Amino acid sequence: METFKAYRVFNEDGKVAGRVVDATLAELAAGEVAFRTAYASVNYKDALAATGTGGKIIRRYPLIAGIDAAGTVVSSTDPRFKAGDEVLCTSYDFGVGHDGGYSQMCRVPADWVVRLPAGLTLFEAAALGVAGYTAGLAMELLELNGMAPANGKVLVNGATGGVATLAIDMLARLGYHVVAMTGKAAEHEFLKKLGAAEVLPRQKPEPGGRPLEKELWAAAFDSVGGEQLAWLTRTMQRNGLIASFGNAGGIEFSTTVLPFILRGVRLIGVDSGFTPMPLRRKVWGRLATDLKPRFLNDIARVISLDDLSAYFGRMLGAEIRGRAVVRMS
Ligand SMILES: NC(=O)c1ccc[n+]([C@@H]2O[C@H](COP(=O)([O-])OP(=O)(O)OC[C@H]3O[C@@H](n4cnc5c(N)ncnc54)[C@H](OP(=O)(O)O)[C@@H]3O)[C@@H](O)[C@H]2O)c1
Repeated sequence: METFKAYRVFNEDGKVAGRVVDATLAELAAGEVAFRTAYASVNYKDALAATGTGGKIIRRYPLIAGIDAAGTVVSSTDPRFKAGDEVLCTSYDFGVGHDGGYSQMCRVPADWVVRLPAGLTLFEAAALGVAGYTAGLAMELLELNGMAPANGKVLVNGATGGVATLAIDMLARLGYHVVAMTGKAAEHEFLKKLGAAEVLPRQKPEPGGRPLEKELWAAAFDSVGGEQLAWLTRTMQRNGLIASFGNAGGIEFSTTVLPFILRGVRLIGVDSGFTPMPLRRKVWGRLATDLKPRFLNDIARVISLDDLSAYFGRMLGAEIRGRAVVRMS
């Protein structure tokens, strides 16, 4: 039986860590579709999961990590897919309760598989990955709630991160005035290249503060959570829209009801994990067309399975920018 390389996470005496191992298809969690992985990517959740940081994300050990992957179907017992189809898989239990994408072969339930949309290569699908899907889903949900370029500025915080860099590119492409907020002084020019009209240094808002402050943003893409999110609620314009998808700066925040009842601010939760499949396919279709980032090659860099452990540490230290794509072949 063919053996292949995979990055498996172990919990040994309470210490969670991953390493590259040899694996076989028979060892992988069950599923109808087996595909040969071309690329996977690194998301913040992967870094948390593979290092055991911030609570239990992986639900059974040992487990192959990686919450997204793109590749070519080798076999399928489900009639929706056949050998040779190019596909991608993200979300659900992939890489958290079911063996994930950091593996040269993957085996998953057919219900989790998305056919690669025309207009994307396997590399581009992985460079987008969960991060791009989350940015695209946030765009879709905010547009459904009336977001439009004419309404005013859009704030994107944690701006050099994976979701944020892709969101900036997508927003700028559609004509939005994007204000990027970052903790990295050296990356202002990079963010402008992606399409940010303005770049602000990361704020450290005081907890509390006045319940309503100067109206600044028509919409916001929040990677950070915590006090940053509280500050956003206080500084949104009338009918402002906040996409809340991240917790890089904390999970708790406190605000008042005043932004909601006096300014009509809407706080819109974005969960990439369990989107119904019709909406998921729609967003992937948009990622291949009107939302397709123009600077994906500047945002993404290629790493190998052997680089993963070190990369996770740098990601948790907010030392990276953009996206890392893991070449699997
Ligand atoms: N809801 C969902 O379905 C979903 C899907 C994907 C991601 N997420 C979440 O979205 C967030 C971003 O994910 P990602 O993959 O883009 O991560 P990432 O690439 O690591 O980006 C996070 C960025 O946040 C900023 N940041 C980090 N620590 C911070 C802190 N303590 N305070 C303020 N800012 C900080 C940094 O940007 P600067 O240095 O530029 O400020 C960092 O680059 C994560 O919390 C992730 O778990 C959620």
